[in-house]
Amino acid sequence: MNLKGRSLLTLLDYSPDEIQYLINLAKRLKEEKKQGIPHRYLEGKNIVLLFQKDSTRTRCAFEVGSYDLGCQVTYLGPTGSQMGKKESVKDTARVLGGMFDGIEFRGYLQSDVEALAEFSGVPVYNGLTDQYHPTQILADFLTIQEKFGYLKDIKFTYYGDARNNMGNSLMIGCAKMGMHFKAVAPKNLWPRKELIEQCQEIAKQTGATLSFETDPIKGAKDSDVIYTDVWVSMGEPKDVWLKRIRELHAYQVSPEIMNEASKNAIFMHCLPAFHGLDTEVGQQIALEFGQDYPNVKHGELEVTDKVIESNQSVVFEEAENRMHTIKAVILASLSDDYE
Ligand code: CP
Ligand code: NVA
Repeated sequence: MNLKGRSLLTLLDYSPDEIQYLINLAKRLKEEKKQGIPHRYLEGKNIVLLFQKDSTRTRCAFEVGSYDLGCQVTYLGPTGSQMGKKESVKDTARVLGGMFDGIEFRGYLQSDVEALAEFSGVPVYNGLTDQYHPTQILADFLTIQEKFGYLKDIKFTYYGDARNNMGNSLMIGCAKMGMHFKAVAPKNLWPRKELIEQCQEIAKQTGATLSFETDPIKGAKDSDVIYTDVWVSMGEPKDVWLKRIRELHAYQVSPEIMNEASKNAIFMHCLPAFHGLDTEVGQQIALEFGQDYPNVKHGELEVTDKVIESNQSVVFEEAENRMHTIKAVILASLSDDYE
């Protein structure tokens, strides 16, 4: 397997073997890190991190992953660079491509990350766009593999806004890896038809299945993994909250929903999660909508505090795995000499 020079814009561009290879490389790098075995294969390399939206996990994963590999990083945040204001994405791509060995991009448009890849001449990593979040899926699948020992045939159930970056990318990942993906949401929040059709074609090759359910209780039945994400994604206007709470409050992942899943089911979330009153947004939502929607009055939105703090929840291992998997992506794209 040789992924040198490859960008990661969406998992649609990767074969099941390539995805499995990156997960296994991450597993190896994780073991090496835990054992204190250095893996500085990228001494002398430099990557740039371009963020148009905020981040905790993705930024830290790219920074720590790079430093562990001996690679230097430059961070350009939502303000402070010329991109988009005084300079086009195409020009930015050519400037950065001349200085850096790789570019990470988090932003709004998938077409922007595609343009960076087209014009920079170096590998580009999608650190989240409105449409896809591929590096998150690698971490999620490493976590599932650690818990169950395999990916194929896992019954994977996603609650919430299934047409956002997470819903889309998880459906693609499950289709690629022969898993059984189910979205549980009102119909208008299911992934778009063209993407479903594309994933159904992939599923024919891999033995995956895709299904869609509106009943929150029925949806959980026999699931190995229950996954959810925020109801309102970064970049969406604040006034979407009421509409989304109305549509999704019945899909909050609660102990009742976890009880319908299989006995060994795990709970996953890409994070950040709203599960209490200790965030500004959680407090605001509780104050504004708690009266009309009693299950959000304690700032618990997509998941209850009880579920996220339960033994079934693997969210913090999942978060740590962002680093090991992103490290694998950087290494495999910038070197073919690390065996
Ligand atoms: N899951 C995730 O991408 O988190 P950040 O927004 O903190 O990077
Ligand atoms: N759907 C979320 C994912 C955050 C990691 C968002 O785009 O805000």
